Amino acid sequence: MQRTKVKDLLTGAEAGKEILLKGWVRTKRGNKYVTFIAVNDGSTIHSLQVVADAEKFSEEALKDVTTGASVAVTGELVASQGKGQAYEVLANTIEVLGKADPETYPLQKKAHSLEFLREIAHLRFRTNTFGAVFRLRNSLAFAVHKFFNERGFVYMHTPIVTASDAEGAGEMFRVTTLDLDNLPRNEEGKINFEEDFFGRSTNLTVSGQLEGELAAMAFSDIYTFGPTFRAENSNTARHLAEFWMIEPEMAFYDLQDNANLAEEFIKYVIRYAIENNSADIEFLGQRLAEEEKQKPQNERNEMSLLEKLEFVANNSFERITYTEAIDILLNSPAYKKKKFQYEVSWGVDLQSEHERYLVEKHFKKPVIVTNYPKDIKSFYMRLNDDGKTVAAMDILAPGIGEIVGGSQREERLDKLTERMEEMGVPTEELWWYLDTRRFGSCPHAGFGLGFERLVQFVTGMGNIRDVIPFPRTPKNAEF
Ligand code: 4AD
Ligand code: MG
Repeated sequence: MQRTKVKDLLTGAEAGKEILLKGWVRTKRGNKYVTFIAVNDGSTIHSLQVVADAEKFSEEALKDVTTGASVAVTGELVASQGKGQAYEVLANTIEVLGKADPETYPLQKKAHSLEFLREIAHLRFRTNTFGAVFRLRNSLAFAVHKFFNERGFVYMHTPIVTASDAEGAGEMFRVTTLDLDNLPRNEEGKINFEEDFFGRSTNLTVSGQLEGELAAMAFSDIYTFGPTFRAENSNTARHLAEFWMIEPEMAFYDLQDNANLAEEFIKYVIRYAIENNSADIEFLGQRLAEEEKQKPQNERNEMSLLEKLEFVANNSFERITYTEAIDILLNSPAYKKKKFQYEVSWGVDLQSEHERYLVEKHFKKPVIVTNYPKDIKSFYMRLNDDGKTVAAMDILAPGIGEIVGGSQREERLDKLTERMEEMGVPTEELWWYLDTRRFGSCPHAGFGLGFERLVQFVTGMGNIRDVIPFPRTPKNAEF
């Protein structure tokens, strides 16, 4: 017999028929006449109830059917008499494929804390919460490809190992095969990377943008979607050392076109999740509502998770310049009451507390901030005519802060080399990047969306470590 997944069984299409179900036991309960076994196979948040009649199954026969065990069940799919499920299986045979010793299996019926579950990340997929999170993550990833594919963008694989620092921030993980106990030195006593695997110093990429730009100069519209690595020592709920980034790059786009695409993109993937993962969003919404109840009244979110997602998908993002953002902050009650920890003045980088004030308190919706001071942004951003600001854009989301960083790129060779020299970015090493400005340069723009921050936003999960299967953070690379 062919196995049918729980998601398909719950549609009832197989009702009245003999079916084969395979999955993991979530719970077992019952009385001396009947045992109810909830089986989940990950295809949906819902488990399927298996009814084992005591006349057919002795207690002994079911002794290994315990939480966490994997089972194969045959039986008839019938409309359920009980509450909570539309269909159930009247079992004919139950085979335990893999036992899970109840004495040592760490996942029990009671709710576990997210912190505890992080320590058993290899098993946390088997909880409702992480089932919902990772099904949503999957849907969002699919929606990303669908969005760009429908618009004729070419998916480009940019390198993981590079010799350049795309963001110029120096937050890179080195890649080397040199013997760290016995490093080759040159005449000046410095490490001789000519002897290293690639014959030069290399690192893990912080962004695929620079290579993405090269491809956009041929295909017009491209995007990357891959892992990126940053050795920033930020132990926050929004930073990972290894995260996935989506970076579209479009020839002939200016900053407005860029912002329009980013807004359309975010709304599209959110709508896709609402349409395809309603049960997961409903479950996570209830979870979040419980969490909200623990907060003081004035800090609670008024909107449910689904309402928040629908609101974002159906309303325009606010658009302001950096200069306007600073004015709003300087005139805010929070600033006047000295509630901000970090300085606010024209020229400073916006801190998370400032970003969250703008989106959560002031506008109560996503905000696109444009035209930042050049000194706080990367070398590749296009210098505005004022000579002080660059054509940058960040998108700030409620509960998250920065979710997108992007810009129109500096396509003028002289301006670009000038900026690179000013900022100490080596022009010789990036000769290939500068070549695009020598041969057929054109106005172009792009952005990077942090995939985990998007998943955080859609799932409502407070900590970024809970939306990537195996988080990499400072002092943490278990699993
Ligand atoms: O603003 P960032 O640094 O921009 C770039 O890397 C550009 N090259 C993108 C481009 O224009 N093609 O990073 C982009 C986004 C951020 O807005 C944030 O969502 C996410 O990547 N991000 C992180 N996510 C998790 N952990 C970290 N340490 C992150 N650093 C950035
Ligand atoms: Mg940024």
